[in-house]
Formats: sequence, structure tokens, C-alpha cells
Amino acid sequence: MNLNLRDKVVVVTGGSKGIGLGIVESLSNEGAIPVIVTRNKASVLDVEASFKNQGKEFFYTIAELTDPDQCKNAVDEVIKKYGRIDALVNNAGVNDGVSLEHGNHKDFIKSLERNLVHYYLMAHHVLPELKKTKGSILNIGSKTADTGQGGTSGYAAANGGRNALTREWAVELLPYGIRVNALIVAECFTPLYEKWIKTFENGDKKLEEINNLIPFENRMTTVEEIADMVVFLLSDKSSHTTGQLIYVDGGYTHLDRSIK
Ligand SMILES: NC(=O)c1ccc[n+]([C@@H]2O[C@H](COP(=O)([O-])OP(=O)(O)OC[C@H]3O[C@@H](n4cnc5c(N)ncnc54)[C@H](O)[C@@H]3O)[C@@H](O)[C@H]2O)c1
Repeated sequence: MNLNLRDKVVVVTGGSKGIGLGIVESLSNEGAIPVIVTRNKASVLDVEASFKNQGKEFFYTIAELTDPDQCKNAVDEVIKKYGRIDALVNNAGVNDGVSLEHGNHKDFIKSLERNLVHYYLMAHHVLPELKKTKGSILNIGSKTADTGQGGTSGYAAANGGRNALTREWAVELLPYGIRVNALIVAECFTPLYEKWIKTFENGDKKLEEINNLIPFENRMTTVEEIADMVVFLLSDKSSHTTGQLIYVDGGYTHLDRSIK
């Protein structure tokens, strides 16, 4: 299937690791030009070296996305380099465990800044370009907006916000022919996930328990499975899909809990 993504400039926040990196690789395999926006210089240099070796086009800009000025600068740099932006993937975030009982005002707001506010700012800044290209926006979200997780109010609220903004922007951007969708992740083994699982006393046992709860094949979703759906949703082949929350989660969020 030709997804018509060749030479499309696609900005991926947090694209040098985990799910974001998977999306960058999948985009590149389709001939698109991925642009990584991240604060993580070391990992982005590794990606750059690997892309150079393979002779693939790639660009990055360093930004701490909790800083509004750095969000704007990142978008400006992409426009300066390519003169266009065809799509935005909002992906960077962290499950930072700001709980109801032990959290506080400052940490809760900080969590929203880490996980939600830059989704808005990046979309705001790329919008003039997307209007010209009739581009598309894809927000990565988490099942915690549907299921809760306990002990992570900021992250859960941010993910509820990511879902709501997906619908809200899909409506606001109808006149421009810009589609907006979200891909919801439940369990995907990434560096972030590994860090979280290590917070348990017996991480390996916890991991096995979680795998057993995932209805389809009792395993985590792979980064590639998420990335390929993202690329499909960004492409012309999804030309009448907008305002949708797509769960790529092996049935984890919605199927009968008694399934073993
Ligand atoms: N891994 C999972 O199981 C899972 C489940 C549900 C949702 N998600 C969502 O997927 C997204 C990606 O998660 P992941 O597991 O790939 O994470 P990850 O930590 O493996 O990779 C995220 C990358 O984004 C960068 N980043 C994070 N915050 C940033 C900021 N403020 N400014 C600049 N760069 C920043 C990090 O440095 C890192 O390189 C997150 O938004 C998360 O909410 C992941």
C-alpha cells in the first residue's frame, strides 16, 4: 500500500526514544522526513548516526517542551529548514506519579506542563503550516484517562486532556481539512516503562502479571505496532478519519476482565 508520505515533513516530539523513535523509524521507512523535537541530546545523536549510516533524511531540534519559548523555537527551526510542515505527532511525556494524597499544587501543575500543555503549544505553532499543507495531527495518549492507575493524578488528568483536545481540535480544524486523531497506548515496553516497572520490589513478577492481563496473546504492544498505526492515521489512506481515539492495546482497555 502506498501511503503517499514520501518527502512529507513530520514533527515527532520525544522522537529519539521509545514510542516516538518507533514512529520516526516507521515514517522514514515510508519515505517521509521525520523531525525529532526532544531535550535528550545523547539519544538524538545516536539516532542521527544510525540514519546517516542508512543514508536516510532526518532532522532534529533540541527543546525542553515544558518551556513555551522552546516549543516555538523548535517549530521555527523546522520551518527555516524545510519551509513546510505536513504533520505533528505529539508524543513526549512521562508518567510522573503526582498523587492525590501526597501531591501538591506545584507538582500537579508541573505534571500538566510535562504531559499536556506542550501538546497545545506545539499544535498552536504548527497550525499555520498545517493549514497550507492540509496536514494532520496525531496525539499519543494513555489508557489512564479511561481506567485510572492510582497515584498519578497529573498524568491521568493530562491524558484526559489529550483525548478531549483531540475531539476539540478535530472540530475546530474541520474548515481547514486538517484531521486530528489520538492513538491510545496501554502497555508498551519502552525506556519509560522499564523505569516505572523498576519502581516495584519485584519488577519481573509485576511484568509477568501485567502481560497475563493483556487479552491478545498475553503480551505488550510493540513500538512497531503503535508506530505503524500512527503512520497509517497520518496518511491519505485515513482521509475520512478524524476526532478518533484508536486503542492499539491488544484489547487491554475494553475487553472482558475475566479473559485469561
Ligand atoms: N510506554 C507505555 O506503555 C505508554 C503507555 C501509555 C502512554 N504512553 C505515552 O507514550 C508517550 C511516549 O512514552 P514512551 O514510553 O515512549 O517514553 P520514553 O521516556 O521512552 O520516551 C519519551 C521521550 O520524550 C522525551 N521527553 C519527555 N518529556 C520531554 C520534554 N518535556 N521535553 C522534551 N523531551 C521530552 C524523553 O526525553 C524521551 O526521549 C508518552 O506521552 C506516554 O504518556 C506510553
